[in-house]
Amino acid sequence: MFSIALRSSGRRCRLTGSPVPAAGLDAVYLVPHPASRQCRRASNTAWRPVSVLDEWVAREARPISLRQLMVFGRSLTESRLISSANYVRTELPVRIAHRLRDMQQLPYVVVTNPHINDVYNLYYNAFDCFRKLKEVKTLEDNDRLCDIIAQNLKGHLTVIPKLAMGILECGGLMDPKDLDNFMNTILRSRISRRVIAEQHLSLTETFNSPYFSPGAKLSESDFIGEIFIKCSAKEVIDRCAKAVTALARSTNGPDAAVPDIHVVGHLDASFPYILSHIEYIVGELLRNSVEAVIERHQKTNDPAPPPPIEVTICEAQEHVIFRISDRGGGIPREELPYLWSFSKGPQSQKQLDNLGQVPRMAATMQELHVEDELGRADLKTPTYHSSLSSLTSRPPNLRLGMGLPLSRVYAEYWAGSLNLHSLEGYGVDAFLQISRLGNKNEQLATRASMDA
Ligand code: COI
Repeated sequence: MFSIALRSSGRRCRLTGSPVPAAGLDAVYLVPHPASRQCRRASNTAWRPVSVLDEWVAREARPISLRQLMVFGRSLTESRLISSANYVRTELPVRIAHRLRDMQQLPYVVVTNPHINDVYNLYYNAFDCFRKLKEVKTLEDNDRLCDIIAQNLKGHLTVIPKLAMGILECGGLMDPKDLDNFMNTILRSRISRRVIAEQHLSLTETFNSPYFSPGAKLSESDFIGEIFIKCSAKEVIDRCAKAVTALARSTNGPDAAVPDIHVVGHLDASFPYILSHIEYIVGELLRNSVEAVIERHQKTNDPAPPPPIEVTICEAQEHVIFRISDRGGGIPREELPYLWSFSKGPQSQKQLDNLGQVPRMAATMQELHVEDELGRADLKTPTYHSSLSSLTSRPPNLRLGMGLPLSRVYAEYWAGSLNLHSLEGYGVDAFLQISRLGNKNEQLATRASMDA
């Protein structure tokens, strides 16, 4: 929570309170938190922990890799499940605490935006709930933890639309670079928390399954928890292509000229990944390409079919690379500077109008899955999580401006990358690089610190 100081007192008397001063507290104003750079410059007092939050912020997050998650979940025993529970129990409040501190350091006008403030409160409550949990020692303790995790996963489904609205509304109030940096960090951290939380729920589900025998190796299974061990690049593209084509037909009519999607290259390439993450990225890229080609083709009135979209898969030693090439005319010059921006510069009003139509938006099917079947019942449903119905269930013409930047956050989270090259007047080449071995740690750092 924010530190607040009494205006009348010469010395600062710190109290804790919500980031928005409560009504009637007009004698009180916000001061920078003692850990903020601004405050450290202004005072010579050495930094010392002043709140529970400070203590948690002082702890480092412990990043994991897909490979670690696979090795850990491969021979599941009760004691491993309990260790996983305690990792999640202590790791979630650390990761949330860092983001609460980021939010406290936003300018006052931004953190008091109602949507951003709602997110702050959601995170503060989750932090407070997880930090107070006692060590998990038994399977019954673990069941209780899983209930709390499932409730939080559901309760936080509104975070992305709230952040999207807040950030568009705060567009002019903060340096756009800082705003995008904040969004990149908060979204990446959110992905990371949902990964460790969902992985633990999946492991518990596996452990509780009547077919499971503790200690048995799970190597025959396609999934270890949420991780798809052999994610086929070609199959991912085929599934996304089907969903995107269906979406284009539903938007443009069944007889619309929708471009074919051709896949060439290393068709046998596979890698361990979280299916909903890769499908979110590839689905967004294909959707952009298909829409651009249809739009351009309609303008030309050409009776010939629209030019196909070419997807090339390249399996290198350490990476699988997807190149998605379209002939949709390229990205308009004026949109280029805001391609990766969440606040979208001058186009933000258009996105704001669109956001009015979406009371709630889950980013991936994994999230919808939790939304539909909250709680313990959720642990008993099949674990095949895909993001595709989030693509098809979204109103087809809805442009939130989040697709590309959020796809890049997903790609970078597992140490991959996403870049676009626009050939003006011709088309776009999108390059998505995925780590093939799954041995890279999740990337919790911000884009700015990676660029530095
Ligand atoms: C989120 O979805 O934003 C979360 O932090 C979820 C976590 C509390 C389980």
